[in-house]
Amino acid sequence: MTDKYTQLVSHGLGRDIAKKLGLPQPMALRRHTPGQPLVTGPVLVQGAGSGADALASTLLSWNLDVRRHAVPKEKLGAIILVLDELSRPEDLEKPVLTAATSLRDLAANARVVTISRSAADAANADAANADAANPGAADPAAAAARQGVDGLVRSLAKELRAGATANGILLADGAGTTSPSTLGALWFFLSGRSAFVDGQFLTVRSAEGQLPADAEKPLAGKVAVVTGAARGIGAAIARTLHRDGATVVAVDIPAAGDHLAAVANEVHGTALQLDITREDAGQRIIDHAVERHGRLDIVIHNAGITRDKLLANMDQGRWNSVIAVNIAAQLRINEALLASEHFRNSPRIVSVASTSGIAGNRGQTNYGASKGGVMGMVRATAPLIGTHGGSINAVAPGFIETEMTAKIPFATREIARRLNSLQQGGRPGDVAEAIAFLASDAAGGISGEVLRVCGQNLVGA
Ligand code: NAI
Repeated sequence: MTDKYTQLVSHGLGRDIAKKLGLPQPMALRRHTPGQPLVTGPVLVQGAGSGADALASTLLSWNLDVRRHAVPKEKLGAIILVLDELSRPEDLEKPVLTAATSLRDLAANARVVTISRSAADAANADAANADAANPGAADPAAAAARQGVDGLVRSLAKELRAGATANGILLADGAGTTSPSTLGALWFFLSGRSAFVDGQFLTVRSAEGQLPADAEKPLAGKVAVVTGAARGIGAAIARTLHRDGATVVAVDIPAAGDHLAAVANEVHGTALQLDITREDAGQRIIDHAVERHGRLDIVIHNAGITRDKLLANMDQGRWNSVIAVNIAAQLRINEALLASEHFRNSPRIVSVASTSGIAGNRGQTNYGASKGGVMGMVRATAPLIGTHGGSINAVAPGFIETEMTAKIPFATREIARRLNSLQQGGRPGDVAEAIAFLASDAAGGISGEVLRVCGQNLVGA
């Protein structure tokens, strides 16, 4: 599960040879470790409006080294481009080309983050009442400018080098540049927690959410359930949630009992042996959390299986088992959670989807259907859990270095892991970091979203 090539070309002679031969030069990524600064170097906040001013003041209160104008040749840890006042595509020119002059000054593993308004809001404004005679407040020029930011960021992410990433925050009507979840998303994108998130957007839908009292323990006091926690990405999620202060209930099938117990012990949590496809799985999860820990705040649907076959060769067993574990079980458990009075205190659900459910993957029609299903479920459940002040989101991992991907034949694996903007595979911990952020109070204004943790896959979506 190690990527020896990345280690080899990260420094010294290996780096020089790779450069001469024009080979991919993946950078050792800056990943979060407790106590580490949020960014390494000054943060340039660009944008002329009041939203940019308010944000710059807030970042100063975070003790960041904030610049409102570039200082020639100074290495930057991040550029934050505030574009919340765009009304037509021509408005992009000045702020974008000004920011462009600082791109060469970005340090290794730097961050570019845009903050702009959601194009959907400009397109849909008053859509319910619009007709030919009364076009409502829809604003094609504003929608064009706002959607332009999407194409801009995704392209810039493909241009940046040396582990630097570009991501964007979209503000829906009702959210501003200093809303709690805007700041929460910014904190996530600036930090080493988002190392393998590149070319992606998070939409802040409301002014809900709350920044943590202790940035190192954003989940303090929370009880979190993680399914499929005996190994792989699930075990990494359990460790990360524990590191962030949560009490963890680790769930997995009885056959994985020994590994499950080891993970639960390691994170000082409890183990629940349970097949999530059981009819009563939701109630068993609620009962365990409440009886053993007195509450339930967070559920992470991570357990998943693959049973790959070309559709022409697909059998009922393979199809049904993948649908049953990967999506039907999540739907049934969510029904029990939403009906329970024990899951009413800013509840959080985060599901693990996959880029296979977005871009598709040969041999994975059943898996792709199940993971597409996860994303549809998340969007439709957001308003339901919203009535309890909660949120639900999905994380879609791309190529992650696990036992599963280690079994892929060498040549295919090498291609799959290099074909993203960061030219390397992600780690289970990268997926876990995105989940921990979406499970936190700071993400309260973000719901119904799918965040890809894929290093910006270059093929497919
Ligand atoms: P894994 O196979 O290493 O671990 C999955 C865990 O889920 C296992 O411990 C297994 O026992 C458990 N599990 C399976 N069926 C269960 C059931 N009915 N009830 C309770 N537990 C059950 O898989 P990995 O790689 O850690 O994947 C975790 C999640 O991430 C899955 O949903 C997978 O589809 C998704 N994913 C993984 C990617 C990768 O590159 N490894 C890429 C994209 C998504």
